[in-house]
Amino acid sequence: MKKIVLITGATAGFGEACAHKFAANGDDLIINGRRTDRLEKLSVVLKNKYQANILLLPFDVRDEKEVAAAINSLEGNWSKIDVLVNNAGLALGRDYFDEANLEDWNTMIDTNVKGFLYVAKAVSQLMVNRKQGHIINMSSVAGKEVYEKGNVYCATKFAVDALSKSMRIDLLRHGIKVTSINPGAADTEFSLVRFKGDENTANKIYDGLKPLSAADVADVIYYCTTLPAHVCINDLTLTCVQQANAIYFNRQQDK
Ligand SMILES: NC(=O)c1ccc[n+]([C@@H]2O[C@H](COP(=O)([O-])OP(=O)(O)OC[C@H]3O[C@@H](n4cnc5c(N)ncnc54)[C@H](OP(=O)(O)O)[C@@H]3O)[C@@H](O)[C@H]2O)c1
Repeated sequence: MKKIVLITGATAGFGEACAHKFAANGDDLIINGRRTDRLEKLSVVLKNKYQANILLLPFDVRDEKEVAAAINSLEGNWSKIDVLVNNAGLALGRDYFDEANLEDWNTMIDTNVKGFLYVAKAVSQLMVNRKQGHIINMSSVAGKEVYEKGNVYCATKFAVDALSKSMRIDLLRHGIKVTSINPGAADTEFSLVRFKGDENTANKIYDGLKPLSAADVADVIYYCTTLPAHVCINDLTLTCVQQANAIYFNRQQDK
């Protein structure tokens, strides 16, 4: 059956790939991100390719009032969100704890923890009213183990991990599913953002690896939403075959 799916961070990477995957399967999408030009372009592509119904909902997840106003502005069927892909997020910098930049830390905490919560809170309220819904939280292998120079990024994803567990318990009585997705290294704009546009450093992250693609992650997320009503994948970690966890890689020169 057709679903209403709200995807945050749909202007790139996992969010954009999820938009394609859900639209290709006939769902109606509410797409979010800050770059409205990208949302507009994506909407045209999705409409032409899949005849999808698309609603643009640009906002900055860090702005508590903007998030609440945007979610509360949804009318009619658009307010009946079946699936939230709570995905918007970023890493900024990869520095030793003592050398890291406080501004980077604030932005990661404001986006990955506070913004994540503003969206989850506003959307879960709509789901509670209908006693149904599925929240997919984007965590990471960085939310399972810390790695050198991962400090605050890892901490924000540990927070997502803890909050997914808490939400699953607190929303249990309303029948709302909560799934935490924990990908390993994936080829998106993530590293370019992390290293502030330094392509050489960003590309080195994938040296000797065939990393996950955004489409790989979107396929897994979509799968989680196709299970029978009484079944929920609570926590799912996926990596490419050359990655064991947040720290161990088997890099090969021909990849
Ligand atoms: N790629 C990886 O290796 C990897 C692995 C594990 C987990 N993750 C997590 O997966 C999620 C998506 O990352 P990605 O790899 O797809 O990176 P990406 O290609 O850089 O996409 C990030 C998305 O988040 C949005 N975003 C960032 N800050 C935002 C804000 N303040 N308000 C609204 N949207 C915001 C961006 O949109 P705008 O810039 O247009 O706002 C963009 O659409 C993140 O939570 C990341 O931590 C990534």
